[in-house]
Amino acid sequence: MLPSALIEKYNIPGPRYTSYPTVPYWENRTFSLKGWKSSLKKSFLESNSTEGISLYIHLPFCESMCTFCGCNKRITRNHGVELPYIESVLKEWDMYRELFGETPVIKELHLGGGTPTFFSSENLRFLIEGIFKTANRSPEVELSFEGHPNNTSNEHLETLSDLGFKRVSYGVQDYNENVQKAIHRVQPFEKVKLATEMARSAGFKSVGHDVIFGLPFQTKENIVYTINKTIELRPDRIAFYSYAHVPWIKGNGQRGFREEDLPGAKEKRDQYETGKRMLLEAGYTEIGMDHFALKTDSLFKAMEQNTLHRNFMGYTSSKTKAMIGLGVSSIGDSWYGFAQNVKGVEEYQDLIQKGIFPVFRGHILTQEDLAIRKHILNLMCKFKTQWFSLNEYFEELPSVLHKLEEMKKDKLVELDSNFIRITDKGQSFVRNVCMAFDLRLQRKKPETQLFSMTV
Ligand SMILES: C[S@@+](CC[C@H](N)C(=O)[O-])C[C@H]1O[C@@H](n2cnc3c(N)ncnc32)[C@H](O)[C@@H]1O
Repeated sequence: MLPSALIEKYNIPGPRYTSYPTVPYWENRTFSLKGWKSSLKKSFLESNSTEGISLYIHLPFCESMCTFCGCNKRITRNHGVELPYIESVLKEWDMYRELFGETPVIKELHLGGGTPTFFSSENLRFLIEGIFKTANRSPEVELSFEGHPNNTSNEHLETLSDLGFKRVSYGVQDYNENVQKAIHRVQPFEKVKLATEMARSAGFKSVGHDVIFGLPFQTKENIVYTINKTIELRPDRIAFYSYAHVPWIKGNGQRGFREEDLPGAKEKRDQYETGKRMLLEAGYTEIGMDHFALKTDSLFKAMEQNTLHRNFMGYTSSKTKAMIGLGVSSIGDSWYGFAQNVKGVEEYQDLIQKGIFPVFRGHILTQEDLAIRKHILNLMCKFKTQWFSLNEYFEELPSVLHKLEEMKKDKLVELDSNFIRITDKGQSFVRNVCMAFDLRLQRKKPETQLFSMTV
């Protein structure tokens, strides 16, 4: 089948599988805070002393609205919000610590946003020192943050490097002026170049760039230009994301484009293939669904050593059983369950003030969920998975395999009695392969569109 016919056939709304079950399929009605706390305590006690835990801290503020952004953020120019927010995060951390009765060992800590570099370096120091005042560092600790190239200063980088941060990812998105205007994010190449060089001089070992394809007004020529500029700066890793167009969630405020200005599915796929080819020629290796890394980067090494993992932040090089999410909208993952914090800053701070865990929804995984998650993680991270007997993991495995027959005919997967491997041709359709395993999605088809398109 021709690539364009395949795209037409398989381009449907589908999850990006940063979790299984996916957030819209969590069973919130049977979820309780008590259940979440006990699942987290269990995984903490099982893994803290051996592998340590991960922390994700959401810093939601941005000075201006980027109209493509699907993340939870609060737009403000009032920097008076920084300190009260950090105090709440530290108090939330204390509430979790009290649960454990053992000093946490932090293996991974990531500051996401929003824009972490909205915060002054002094306040970021206060936050990180506050966390480590009551925690130990794993010998392999990895600290990372998301930086906006327009406002990441040398002071930010020096401070964070001094605190042990060695990885930064910068939001680049696209270098073309028209595209940048449409998404309300004007950011010259020179700024990214400076931010990249400053990070290296400050001692960062991994500098990442986020680039997006499928944005409004983007063409293949735009992608060639943006990828060439990206290669010029030689970031250690590149997240080459498919633009997730989800206007029903985020609203249209300040948006400088119409639906018609978005590239079509085939054009979008072409953009990815073009960028991919250029990156491979430049010495990058494709990692999972949408990441590229130099051979010296820890993400590449994780792929080689079969330790690549995927969670709410995308692909990561290290996995811990327990991940705690602090701050508004953050999601925690205890391996046995998920929990998400409230999304409003005031509500979050108010609950913390009252000593109440700010969790508003979550899910405790069933045995079937655990088995399916394992396969979905294998497929997303290794493009293959296996089992030893047909009903070993869950009873409906035969029906899943039956659904994959069509993809086998299209040469997207190779199927055997105990394994499935996604072919090179099929890798662009990995989300579709995972959907065959997603029994929750199949049992209850969404009534409205919940997910972005798979291609
Ligand atoms: C929350 S942003 C943080 C980066 C930092 N605040 C900045 O603005 O540079 C993390 C990354 O998510 C990606 N992202 C956000 N919204 C997206 C969307 N709708 N589709 C695809 N990727 C998206 C962008 O590449 C972005 O750099």
